[in-house]
Amino acid sequence: MNRIGLFDSGVGGLSVLAAVRAALPDAALHYVADSAWAPYGDLDTPAIRARALGIAQHLVQAGAQLVVVACNTATAAAVDELRAQLAPRPIIGIEPGLRPALAATRNGRVGVLATRSTLASRRFQALLAREAAGRPVQLQAAVGLADAIESGALDGPALTDLVERHCRPLREAGVDTVALGCTHYPFVRDAIQLALGARVTVIDTSAAVAAQVARVAATLPPVTPPAPPDVLLQTTGAVAPLQAFAAQWLPFPVRVEAAPADLR
Ligand code: DGL
Repeated sequence: MNRIGLFDSGVGGLSVLAAVRAALPDAALHYVADSAWAPYGDLDTPAIRARALGIAQHLVQAGAQLVVVACNTATAAAVDELRAQLAPRPIIGIEPGLRPALAATRNGRVGVLATRSTLASRRFQALLAREAAGRPVQLQAAVGLADAIESGALDGPALTDLVERHCRPLREAGVDTVALGCTHYPFVRDAIQLALGARVTVIDTSAAVAAQVARVAATLPPVTPPAPPDVLLQTTGAVAPLQAFAAQWLPFPVRVEAAPADLR
């Protein structure tokens, strides 16, 4: 039995938490939603690093044996720093699934939908140079989309318009495969699929990240005394919206509480 910490700027990383729960149903999971500071895509790199480090340290102090950065934006900005500061604790990040998208495309045209901060990051630019190696990739910054999802607006005309606005350039570029590069986006995957068209393959890497978490967890000693396999969600923002979001989207029971005051 292992104890695993995860965090995101808000509710987005719950898509990763659900995948980790499916892969490791016996693990104790501790998730921090940094909703008071969301969206990370609007913060500069030093600010994202400071938030990520404070939260990862809190998770480790609470007993996490490994930490999952369930946020593409925080991974791009802070995963190297977290690994340096928290070594030898394993830190697992998430990146847009460019490699699976390039492997899946039939017409050679691939898109990535992510935050502006992720797309502009040195880490993503290095991934692009390495994986695409000159092949054209249509990058689309979905400005405002993580924010809309964070506020609980998961359907309705405003969300449909926003999704359509960000998917149109991808459609017009003729891409047949799109990698979702933000952990918030799987919660509006149906709307994205509708806007892109049924023939476009949408790639979400949360299951691949969960498989990697399971591989690394298998190398760790079980915690003693064994932690019950419960799921604790903490938030730096308001508790009630996180509670409502979890009740709607997670198919297992969770405890929800405020994060400690020094984290907010
Ligand atoms: N879920 C984050 C990501 O994967 C959110 C973006 C944000 O907070 O701007 O990039």
